[in-house]
This record gives sequence, structure tokens and C-alpha cells, in this order.
Amino acid sequence: MGNLKLSKGVKKPFHGVFCLVCTVVVDGFFGDGGKGKLVSYLSVADEIAVCARGGVGPNAGHTVVDDGVTFKLRMVPCGFVNHSTRLLIGPGVVVNPEVVIKEVKELGIEDRFGIDPQCAIIEAKHIEADGKGHLKEIIGTTGTGTGPCNADRALRVAKMAKEIPELEEFLTDVSTEINEAIDSGANVLLEGTQGTYISLYHGTYPFVTSNDVCASAICSDVGVGPTKIDEVILVLKAYVTRVGAGFLAGEISFEEARNRGWDEYGTVTGRQRRAAPFNFELARRAVMLNGATQIALTKLDISYPECKGASDYDALNEEAVSFVEKVEKELGLPVTFIGTGPGVREIIDRRT
Ligand code: IMP
Ligand code: MG
Repeated sequence: MGNLKLSKGVKKPFHGVFCLVCTVVVDGFFGDGGKGKLVSYLSVADEIAVCARGGVGPNAGHTVVDDGVTFKLRMVPCGFVNHSTRLLIGPGVVVNPEVVIKEVKELGIEDRFGIDPQCAIIEAKHIEADGKGHLKEIIGTTGTGTGPCNADRALRVAKMAKEIPELEEFLTDVSTEINEAIDSGANVLLEGTQGTYISLYHGTYPFVTSNDVCASAICSDVGVGPTKIDEVILVLKAYVTRVGAGFLAGEISFEEARNRGWDEYGTVTGRQRRAAPFNFELARRAVMLNGATQIALTKLDISYPECKGASDYDALNEEAVSFVEKVEKELGLPVTFIGTGPGVREIIDRRT
């Protein structure tokens, strides 16, 4: 760890025992920072007993590359990579039953997957409403029905997961399961979705998603109180991307983005993401809004190709190291993880 100060609860041997923690993972920009990959890595590295998803709904797209196989998930928590991790979706999330059942079957996780009876259900009318008018033309939503479903939930007319026969076998009291796991001393991971600046409350309204997505909202989505959280990992990509409409400081053209290797395409929509350089001002505010304790700096290999695949900090070149040090200095937090490629194991874990 060099001269980095370890924050409270970071997994490290203490009298031969590993500290057990409840960790929240959130994105500090506009989403698509690589939370999915980090969560999959942690599920294995930290022997996560329960990985629970908060966040908005199937508007999220998480890409996980494990042993050369690419998984594109919209609903199931990314901790599936660890075969003994229990996977839960909290009541704050809105669920498309078709999408979730397809993912559960494809991954073969039927025996370790649970969904809260109070998740709201996306119906055909929500998807239809999300695919036209103001939402499609002005906001540029993902068209997944997530926003209209949340609107119906606020109006108290939404369907609940407990009313869907196909979901019955998966229904469980998610908040009780998670809190019991925390109290028993197990490692628990709360997986956020989207990103700080598309939060309904803290983002660039109206160009935002249909719920808050900051760390405290993720806790609320799954029913965990703030005193139970030990660590908040803020994921920051080495450059910024945004899909859909809304201001993006320092935005470069699609062509320039392609030149820099910053051209990305949406997991859910396939749209080319808009791109801009790393933004320290946004990052500092995201640290504040999320109460972050650690930073995961992702996709460093895109800006510094020499570090592709590295799993050792010493393998980084001078330029990459000085960027990491600048991030730590400007944000006042340790960069505990550095992403060096899409694979689950292409990561520098500086905690050990
Ligand atoms: P909605 O969440 O589908 O209503 O879309 C609202 C805005 O949030 C649009 O700009 C979407 O592109 C954006 N958005 C929603 N989910 C994600 C995500 O997981 N990653 C990045 N952008 C997202
Ligand atoms: Mg995504």
C-alpha cells in the first residue's frame, strides 16, 4: 500500500483475521464506469456471501468478462461470478420479469437468486410510454420502461413482484437476508447502478434517470441502514462518458473519441456514448455526495495502453502512476483498485 492510509474496514489481516465488511459500490460520473467488473472481482477476492443490487432497473447494463466469456446483464447482480455468492434484488429496484428470468436461467443461478416481493414490475405499457414523446425525444431514455414504472409506483398503482406467479419461487425478504448476513459477520456487497450525475436528485435534471442512485439510495433500495456500511467504493473511469441528452463538460466529438479509443457503445441501447476527459470537479463532488472511502479507477489501460492486463502497481509506467497520484491528491482518498482491462482479473488490487 506504500504510504496510502487504509480507511476503516478495508480487508486486511488483523491478528490473522480478515476484517469483514459491508461495502457499497457506486459510479461517480454518468454510469458505465465498470462497476460490474469490479463487483465480479470483489465477489471472488473478498468471498462475498451476499451481493445485493440496488439502483433503478433494467435500464442498467453491466458487462462482465470472465474466462473469455462476455456476460451482458441488466438485472442480476454481478457477483454471480463467485458460485457461492447469494444474489439478491432489493425492493427499490423495478423489475422486468422476462429479462430477469432469462438472465437467471442463462446463468443457472436458480438456487442462489432472490427477489423482494415489493419490487415494482415493468409492464408492456411502461415500455411503450418510454419509447416515445418527451422521454424518448428529449431525455433520450433507455426505452426500457423503467421511468414510467417508477412513476406508477409513486402513484401507488404499480404491480408488485409478489403478484407475478413466474417470480414466486424467487421471492424472499431481501432486507432481512442482507441484515442477517451483516450481523453474522459475512462479507456483503451492495451493488449500485447508473451514476451519480444521472441521479434524479443530484444529477443534471431533467436529463437523469427516475430515481436517486447515490450510495445512500442504494442502501435504501435494499433495506440497509447507514450505520451498517463500512466502505463506499466510488468507481471513476479514466475518462467520462455519457449516453442520452444533457450537458457534458469538455465533450469531444465522436470522431475524436474514436481516435482516443474512448468510443464506447451502450450495453442496453447500442448507442455510441458521448465522451469527455476525466473531470476532477465532478469527481470531488461525487466523493462528497456518496461519502466515498475508496476510489476504483477504471479503464486505465485505455489512456495508458502499456498497463493493459497489469495486476501489479509496479508495472505501471511513470505517466500512469502520476495520474493515479493526482487523483488521490485531488480527492483525498486512496485509489485501491485500478482497472487494466475488461477481464475480471485484469485489475490491480492495492489493498494487499
Ligand atoms: P432511463 O433511466 O432509461 O429513464 O434514462 C434516463 C437517462 O439515464 C438517459 O440519458 C439514459 O441514457 C441514462 N441511463 C439510464 N441508465 C443508465 C446506465 O446504466 N448507464 C448509463 N446511462 C444510463
Ligand atoms: Mg452500463
